[in-house]
Amino acid sequence: MTMLENMTTETDMVIELDRRHVAHNYSPLPVVAAGAEGAWITDVEGRRYLDCLAAYSAVNFGHRNPEVTAAAHAQLDTVTLVSRAFHSDRLAPFCAALAALCGKDMVLPMNSGAEAVESGIKVARKWGHDVKGVPADQGNIVVARNNFHGRTTTIISFSDDDTARRGFGPYTPGFRSVPFGPDDPHAEAIADAIDDNTVAVLIEPIQGEAGIIVPPDDYLPRVRALCTARNVLLIADEIQSGLARTGRTFACDHWGVVPDVYLLGKALGGGVVPLSAVVADRAVLEVLHPGEHGSTFGGNPLAAAIGSTVVEMLARGEFQSRSAELGTHLHDRLRGLIGRGVIAVRGRGLWAGVDIDPVHGTGKQISLKLAERGVLVKDTHGSTLRFAPPLVITADEIDWAVDRLADVLAETGSH
Ligand SMILES: Cc1ncc(COP(=O)(O)O)c(C=O)c1O
Repeated sequence: MTMLENMTTETDMVIELDRRHVAHNYSPLPVVAAGAEGAWITDVEGRRYLDCLAAYSAVNFGHRNPEVTAAAHAQLDTVTLVSRAFHSDRLAPFCAALAALCGKDMVLPMNSGAEAVESGIKVARKWGHDVKGVPADQGNIVVARNNFHGRTTTIISFSDDDTARRGFGPYTPGFRSVPFGPDDPHAEAIADAIDDNTVAVLIEPIQGEAGIIVPPDDYLPRVRALCTARNVLLIADEIQSGLARTGRTFACDHWGVVPDVYLLGKALGGGVVPLSAVVADRAVLEVLHPGEHGSTFGGNPLAAAIGSTVVEMLARGEFQSRSAELGTHLHDRLRGLIGRGVIAVRGRGLWAGVDIDPVHGTGKQISLKLAERGVLVKDTHGSTLRFAPPLVITADEIDWAVDRLADVLAETGSH
């Protein structure tokens, strides 16, 4: 009998198989999903969990959202992939609709979020060279401290997360890191970092992985004004913050700021396929010519059909309103735990970073205890938990999840 056959539960067996054959680049909670619907995940033992992570906001519209899966099923029966060597009847309508949602002209479709960021960087450098007149190979991009934009070698080159960087050098040059938002309330550090060769400022309007860090109200408008005045592209990475997560279509909308370039991903694929995009006006995206950039899967008909449905759903506005209303409820309830194990709550809409008093344990320890009680969340840094449930969650379900957190804090505070 092998060790796997010896194991008592299917959960143990899958986790052991995972340990042997899946690269150890994650440290997942010991929950083995076998099904999901709406805001709920069912594991291989038949236990149900309220999903308060939503695949890092890729499942904003709920697991297996019926509109999204209907579009996917229909497209599976027509055409799924032709590459960009040919046109498909799905791509242009999707790009037109997404551009309209963003108030822009054009879309560059890609797959993962990191690819959208990489593509945005390439577009900005090319724009700097071709349009702004920056000498070849001299363009620089200003980024924010504690950013998270993905995992490629270029992107980690301007991360300051040691775990994400160490051992992966040499790093890509051309980036300048400055303090973000609350640490640079008047955007003075950004102003100082911009020079004649700066092609872009790349920021998350609300920093996600850093712990849902919301900037002061005048920060983004100042960054916008600076970029306009200095002829620099403002690139908003809305891969996690965008598409209704914060109660608006884009997090930038909270401050009335329109970036030159939106980077989108995650929820754009409806929780079904990887679909990301760089969205900008013609004057920016037309710097790309045939052969200069591409992706075999980028903009494939299946992803485009799903993306069109997602854009239609966003254009109706119901997910944004739901996130705003229920977000107020979530934040009120979480703030009620301040002084009872919670130190601070940040965020917008159905997106909350919850700092737990370290006396109660690390974020990972609290997440494990919540999972035992049927609530799935993810820690970010140290003792911060992130609540980002699918936007189809109900007020009662939010209450239930927050009550479970209160239980865990009551239990962990007593020893
Ligand atoms: C703001 C932001 N940008 C980019 C990414 C990278 O996306 P992906 O994991 O799809 O490459 C993430 C992922 O968490 C993100 O939060």
